[in-house]
Amino acid sequence: MKASTRTTYGSPDVITVKEVEKPTPKANEILVRVYATTVNRTDCGALWGKPFVFRFFIGLFKPRNEITGTDFAGVVEAVGQNVTSFKVGDRVWGFDDNTLPSHAEYMAIDTKKPVLKIPNGFTFEQAAASAEAAHYAYNFLNKVKLAPGMKVLVNGGTGAIGSAAIQFLKSMDIFVIAVCHSQYNDRVQALGPDRIIHYDKEDFTQDYKKYDFVFDAVGKSSFKPCTKILKDNGIYISSELGPGAENLYLPLLTSIKGGKKVIFPLPIDISKSLAYVADLAEKGKFKPLIDRTYTLDEIKEAFTYVNSGQKIGNVVIKLN
Ligand SMILES: NC(=O)c1ccc[n+]([C@@H]2O[C@H](COP(=O)([O-])OP(=O)(O)OC[C@H]3O[C@@H](n4cnc5c(N)ncnc54)[C@H](OP(=O)(O)O)[C@@H]3O)[C@@H](O)[C@H]2O)c1
Repeated sequence: MKASTRTTYGSPDVITVKEVEKPTPKANEILVRVYATTVNRTDCGALWGKPFVFRFFIGLFKPRNEITGTDFAGVVEAVGQNVTSFKVGDRVWGFDDNTLPSHAEYMAIDTKKPVLKIPNGFTFEQAAASAEAAHYAYNFLNKVKLAPGMKVLVNGGTGAIGSAAIQFLKSMDIFVIAVCHSQYNDRVQALGPDRIIHYDKEDFTQDYKKYDFVFDAVGKSSFKPCTKILKDNGIYISSELGPGAENLYLPLLTSIKGGKKVIFPLPIDISKSLAYVADLAEKGKFKPLIDRTYTLDEIKEAFTYVNSGQKIGNVVIKLN
């Protein structure tokens, strides 16, 4: 079978797409024929081995998984002798932020890992694009108490995390203000926010409104300027560590001080996130934003594009 492989950390130049042995599922595993996967920001981190702390989970001196990838959508082709939760022919999708050998035509995965049946009506491409960023977006939302009518600002409405967060918030009847570049106004408007601020024309931190939460889904802002637009007990959450890694210590400092707070979301429980996304998808309340689609042979280009920080939503790799 064909797979995207690498034996060392580095730029997309370390990747070789080559023939490797097709895996055989162990007793607790299923063999999945992969139809779609994505190249996402976690894949980029795993390719470079950055931040360095990531290597404690994915291989200290070299990547543990020679095949790249973190998410997949496909069809069960074979099941191990102990597997009862899946059968041959099931349409499945899954994600593991500590990497999976999913940039390949076939992949074996233990059924204890986050793997679910694909929501009804979802294509393989949509399922693969609903895993990584949707998991992080859900982990913003589930760290705070949200209620209908609250006002939430999402910075980075075009990003994979931001575009998912907007739809999740709208499904809860939250008043959502999205921030994006004016050239992407229509694509972000289609996600359903109540108002859009164009960051190339207006600084959202100078806005006249006050918000219950500021979700910086691209990590381009910081807490201090956002305090002006937060309500008295408002909360700031960012997907990045912020200047001087301040989002690691500000949660403690701001919780001692009282008033406006910072929370740094540690993403956990991928299966719960995927189940949440599947439920919304089946209710017609979530569709992933998909940017470009590449073939497996073009995967180096896909990594280069995703690493540019300019993708709009998700970048899909179509196989088989
Ligand atoms: N904390 C975690 O566990 C975790 C996990 C995964 C990812 N991340 C981080 O989360 C961030 C977002 O990931 P993602 O996959 O959603 O990113 P992405 O899809 O690559 O999104 C980046 C988007 O942000 C837009 N953007 C760039 N500068 C902006 C600005 N100043 N204001 C508003 N929008 C801006 C870009 O478009 P334009 O530049 O064209 O406007 C692009 O569409 C990344 O920094 C990633 O490293 C964190």
